[in-house]
Amino acid sequence: MKLFFLNVLAILLRYTNASASFQSRCLAFSPESTIFNSTLTAREYVTKGTNLTFPDNDKSCNQPFQVAAANLCRIALHVPTSNRSSITMELWLPEQWESGRVLAAGNGGIDGCIAYDDLAYGTEHGFATVAANNGHNGTSGKAFLNNPDVIIDYAYRSLHTSILQAKKLASLFYGQKYQKSYYIGCSLGGRQGIGAADRYPDDFDGIVAGSPASDFNHLYAWRASFYPITGKNTSADFINAAKWVVIHDEVLRQCDTLDGVKDGIIEDPSLCHFRPEALLCQSGQNTSQCLSSAQVEILNRIYNSPLYGTDGKLIYPAMQPGNELKASTGLYNGLAWPLSQDWYRYVLLNDSTWDASTFNISTAMLADQINPSNIRTFPTTLAPFASVGGKLITFHGGQDQQITSFQGARFYNNLARGMSVSSASLDEFYRFFRISGMFHCGSGPGAWVFGQAGAASAAGIPFEAENNVLAAIVDWVEKGKAPEGILGTKFVDDTVAKGVSFQRRHCRYPFRNTYVSGDAKEPGNWQCRGV
Ligand SMILES: *[C@@H]1O[C@H](CO)[C@@H](O)[C@H](O)[C@H]1NC(C)=O
Ligand SMILES: *[C@@H]1O[C@H](CO)[C@@H](O)[C@H](O)[C@H]1NC(C)=O
Ligand SMILES: *[C@@H]1O[C@H](CO)[C@@H](O)[C@H](O)[C@H]1NC(C)=O
Ligand SMILES: *[C@@H]1O[C@H](CO)[C@@H](O)[C@H](O)[C@H]1NC(C)=O
Ligand SMILES: *[C@@H]1O[C@H](CO)[C@@H](O)[C@H](O)[C@H]1NC(C)=O
Ligand SMILES: *[C@@H]1O[C@H](CO)[C@@H](O)[C@H](O)[C@H]1NC(C)=O
Ligand SMILES: *[C@@H]1O[C@H](CO)[C@@H](O)[C@H](O)[C@H]1NC(C)=O
Ligand SMILES: *[C@@H]1O[C@H](CO)[C@@H](O)[C@H](O)[C@H]1NC(C)=O
Repeated sequence: MKLFFLNVLAILLRYTNASASFQSRCLAFSPESTIFNSTLTAREYVTKGTNLTFPDNDKSCNQPFQVAAANLCRIALHVPTSNRSSITMELWLPEQWESGRVLAAGNGGIDGCIAYDDLAYGTEHGFATVAANNGHNGTSGKAFLNNPDVIIDYAYRSLHTSILQAKKLASLFYGQKYQKSYYIGCSLGGRQGIGAADRYPDDFDGIVAGSPASDFNHLYAWRASFYPITGKNTSADFINAAKWVVIHDEVLRQCDTLDGVKDGIIEDPSLCHFRPEALLCQSGQNTSQCLSSAQVEILNRIYNSPLYGTDGKLIYPAMQPGNELKASTGLYNGLAWPLSQDWYRYVLLNDSTWDASTFNISTAMLADQINPSNIRTFPTTLAPFASVGGKLITFHGGQDQQITSFQGARFYNNLARGMSVSSASLDEFYRFFRISGMFHCGSGPGAWVFGQAGAASAAGIPFEAENNVLAAIVDWVEKGKAPEGILGTKFVDDTVAKGVSFQRRHCRYPFRNTYVSGDAKEPGNWQCRGV
């Protein structure tokens, strides 16, 4: 008994000593001495459960605090990237470093916001995790005006700089070379991931690029095109949020059961050819329940007309139907889309008074010509990335309200054509999953929880390749086990404590998830069928 007690005491002491030595190693670490001209802005030992606050963080980022999910050493650095630009990067080094893994997280929109939730998520699973402000602070584009260096940081240099430094610093800190490097990001973060595979094939061994803002210049033109289409929110034919509910119901009436299951989810929106004329007002009908012909025209322009350039070439595919309830408060709200407005004002036109309601296709074509810092991100080959063994996963929500999910297939097929390869060959290093019923990067009526963005997207599911896309890319890179599908989970009211509502195994493109028979909430009752 006494011996047992002493053993326990010894283990406890060893543990405490290990923690104490990790803590002192953290507090003695001087990364600024190895990075030219950098300044250390934070260095602290943080225990699991600590609620970190960021009082200096730009308020527009809306990230005032983050709870740490592991014991870790938090490092923040200010690193100049040119004589008129800089990045702020945070490197969180977990006490339990797993298999020498380094992870970088991306940004969103046109922002300069550090992804603290991804720092917590990565370190929870043992990755030394880095995230940066992408060259400016906050969600506005003002910092871009007349400073191409800040645009370069945003386009690629911030991520490239931070992963290079993270690899170096993690190896130095733990006293052994890092083994594998990973990337996770969504939206703009998805574009950053693809951009890294294209521009710096050695930066990452595995990349998870969600709902990517690929073909970036065209995306920003397409997004800017909604304001002139919907008209201002005060115009006579403006479709208000209440009417979008009526429209969504009609979209579901026309398309929900195309997949054999009435569940509010259009499994493959490319099969839904929404006909808004079905809602044309009949005489004597209550006009809040039906559409004027001008409103039908608006819907046809949104859902049935891709955007074309003055040269007749495709700019961007049309919006997919199904996202009405979300888009009504975003792209369809009859106001300037702030991201496109800032991008045109501060990056392309250098005119901070540009009126977004005057957007036209000539302006879009100009954006194409300028292509600042070659931000386009629409590669016709990723052969260099594939040849060094890189693995890429993309996914896209089938009810995305900010980037049409049809762009996901367009990107895949553009790459297949450019590389002249079959899907089977492409699948050897790149797989694309269509996530039915998911909005932009997360939430929605579908089975959207699969570890794609921050800890909230991974809560309640195991960190295993089948359920979690970050675990899946690790298995692909380290065990050569490619993901066949992604098993998404939907919690009741999106609340883990209320239990699982259903799960669905999302197929990789070009396969289509097809209902077979039985309980549609059981993933086994669906099959990925070939196209
Ligand atoms: C580093 O700082 C020195 C002194 O402030 C400056 O002369 C030099 O240009 C800086 N280098 C970089 C890469 O910012
Ligand atoms: C963390 O601290 C902030 C500021 O004090 C507070 O608003 C927030 O609710 C806290 N979060 C948690 C999860 O404790
Ligand atoms: C961004 O904010 C950090 C504080 O969070 C500050 O140290 C840094 O200088 C700011 N960067 C720029 C480019 O303003
Ligand atoms: C900044 O560096 C560029 C070269 O990259 C140089 O042309 C410019 O004169 C420098 N500006 C200042 C203020 O040092
Ligand atoms: C139009 O948008 C503005 C700005 O958000 C808002 O104040 C106003 O109430 C809206 N008007 C209508 C008719 O929705
Ligand atoms: C028309 O429908 C709206 C919403 O359903 C309702 O509030 C309104 O009272 C109706 N108007 C008439 C004249 O029935
Ligand atoms: C605006 O300035 C950027 C450099 O910051 C330049 O690339 C672009 O061509 C300018 N736009 C116009 C319309 O002159
Ligand atoms: C497009 O808009 C710009 C202003 O943003 C204007 O100068 C130009 O004349 C417009 N072009 C056409 C074809 O309407």
